[in-house]
Amino acid sequence: MLSLKHFALTLCKEKRSGCVIRHLTHFASSQSNSIGNNSKTPPQSNPSVSSYYKVNNQSAIDTAAGKPSVRLTPYMILYSGKSHDGSHLLKSAQYLWKELPVRIAHRIHEFRSLPFIIGCNPTILEVHELYIRAFNILNNHPAIRTADDEAAYSRLLRDLLDDHTHVVTQLAAGFKECRKHIQNEDVVRQFCDRTLTSRLGIRLLVTHHLSLREEKPHHVGIINKSLRLKDLVEKWAEFTRRLAFHRYGKSPDIRLSGHIGSTFPYITLPLDYILPELFKNAVRATIESHPDASESSLPSVHVTIANNEVDFILRISDRGGGIPHAVLPKVMHYNFTTAEESTEQRLEVDPLGNIIDASNPGSGSTMSPMHGFGFGLPTSRAYAEYLGGSLTIQSLQGLGTDVYLRLKHIDSKHDAFRI
Ligand code: ADP
Ligand code: COI
Repeated sequence: MLSLKHFALTLCKEKRSGCVIRHLTHFASSQSNSIGNNSKTPPQSNPSVSSYYKVNNQSAIDTAAGKPSVRLTPYMILYSGKSHDGSHLLKSAQYLWKELPVRIAHRIHEFRSLPFIIGCNPTILEVHELYIRAFNILNNHPAIRTADDEAAYSRLLRDLLDDHTHVVTQLAAGFKECRKHIQNEDVVRQFCDRTLTSRLGIRLLVTHHLSLREEKPHHVGIINKSLRLKDLVEKWAEFTRRLAFHRYGKSPDIRLSGHIGSTFPYITLPLDYILPELFKNAVRATIESHPDASESSLPSVHVTIANNEVDFILRISDRGGGIPHAVLPKVMHYNFTTAEESTEQRLEVDPLGNIIDASNPGSGSTMSPMHGFGFGLPTSRAYAEYLGGSLTIQSLQGLGTDVYLRLKHIDSKHDAFRI
């Protein structure tokens, strides 16, 4: 069976020019193979390649992409209320039913706007295909009118979330593969910032809907009404330390100070990505800059929490030697990494190169690597900015690094960010 991936490989090898979709349309019309067969979504929702590219499908994507997305503030989500008859679930599903095809069509347009040589990369094309497939499934879904419709739609959403689990890793690998063809870093940054933050928004909305169906203490959907940041920091600090023990046989302490007693409403999901990425960097730098140090003589990583009515700030300070002057301007570039120079290079890396399985921190023994594709910092910054915050770095060259993660509170009625 010939997949789009193989087709793209042939296409790239033959150095043909023109629009990939035009080629694919031609290709699709002569094929009836299906793709994505390894997916969990039902076969009837898994149409053939040709249907992805047939004319009316194109125009459905174009029509949806022409609509603006309706973004909600966390405040709207938090106080939208819960009804005993379950009508809040129905309303939430109806909002997603309208909104998701629009957001996914925007993503597809973005893939189509990539320079040809990048859009043709087989790994990037795989992700493009995933979005076309998700669009077809969601756009063709009948309207949701009853509780049974809502339950079936929720099952579909759960499967789609699973099918898209590795999108960040796939994009990181894809862009790495075609790095040599990229002259303009802004193209990558704009595409990745928009794709990754829009995906975060989509996943937040879908996870919120699915979570509304469960009863979890102190939660309204994905919003933890009294998040204790200290607990989350400790969870990810412990995770990172376990990873370091596994990789290097030692780990610095990660100490916590500041407003450690503060609690406030917040969404854990983005922090579950950002915190391990930042801790891994600090711990790796500390260990690699002290190659002969014993466990007890490794300088600790210090995490400080500051909380106020507008935002909360996390400062992560390490004594890992800092980021050299020449390297500093590049650390926020997608795919920039010093991993190649690292001692960890000899170690085995998960074949998917998964950056982290944030949804499964207990999977310490399957072990995501301490560093990966150079996506940790730029993705974390994009997420922080999407959530109305920032991620900044102060390098004390020769000594260590301070990373500041600043995030806006979600219950602020003014200047709220939108998901
Ligand atoms: P990765 O961890 O996959 O290399 P990141 O985007 O997280 O990707 O980091 C990019 C690079 O920035 C790292 O490879 C490293 O060279 C540098 N870096 C990040 N954080 C630190 C730190 N705390 N100390 C020293 N260097 C750092
Ligand atoms: C993603 O995770 O990439 C998504 O867009 C999820 C969506 C298909 C439900």
